[in-house]
Amino acid sequence: AEIVIVRDKAEAGALVADHIASLLRDNPETVLGLATGSTPLPVYEALRSRLDGVDVSRVRGFALDEYVGIDPAHPESYRSVITREVVEPLGLNPALIRTPDGTPEGIEHHGEEYDEAIRAAGGIDLQILGIGTDGHIGFNEPGSSFASITRVKTLTEQTRKDNARFFDSIDDVPMHCITQGLGTILRARHLVLLAFGEGKAAAVAGAVEGPVTASLPGSAIQLHERATVVVDEAAASQLA
Ligand code: F6R
Repeated sequence: AEIVIVRDKAEAGALVADHIASLLRDNPETVLGLATGSTPLPVYEALRSRLDGVDVSRVRGFALDEYVGIDPAHPESYRSVITREVVEPLGLNPALIRTPDGTPEGIEHHGEEYDEAIRAAGGIDLQILGIGTDGHIGFNEPGSSFASITRVKTLTEQTRKDNARFFDSIDDVPMHCITQGLGTILRARHLVLLAFGEGKAAAVAGAVEGPVTASLPGSAIQLHERATVVVDEAAASQLA
């Protein structure tokens, strides 16, 4: 992977947003892979001021994941987060921005349908990724197959703890999610993984320099020919 060490989140946001804005200018039908969580927020924030004169009406997007069994209208469903942080502020067409369907009815088909929709859109041009403290990307927790497609996964206790800050209590964090698979993610044409802070340092080092192993799903990026890792000094601190 190409490693870019930045001063802070704002610099990372500006760098990645500049790149995305130029993609959208060149191709109004760009297909973006969108991450949720805290990490990509500076990118979405920086994009707001970079879209003047850019036609975004045909931009398509696919979120990485969604909780299973959460009301889509819940403010912390990833549908709501993507609407609030990306679709509305950037003026994207909500009909063209998808999140995996986490409604339990028929969920055994939702993953395949999602991968098929990505394929039908021509594939993801640029996939934004964060990384979990346990090395997950998307919600592909340790042990996930590198060939996996979008499917239901069980969140680890660590991930539920990490995400409890978005809910009233850890008991309210869903147990399951539906996430793009590592195979799905690896089919994107460009991966841009961002990480900030000391807490991500071990996961970043494992993903970039460790053995390629299902025990650290982020290491799957080493199998991709075009992966860019944008980190602050703290997140880069365990790199050799
Ligand atoms: C979010 C996602 C997760 C997060 C990861 C880091 O769509 O798929 O992999 O990127 O859990 O979360 P934050 O950014 O909140 O530290």
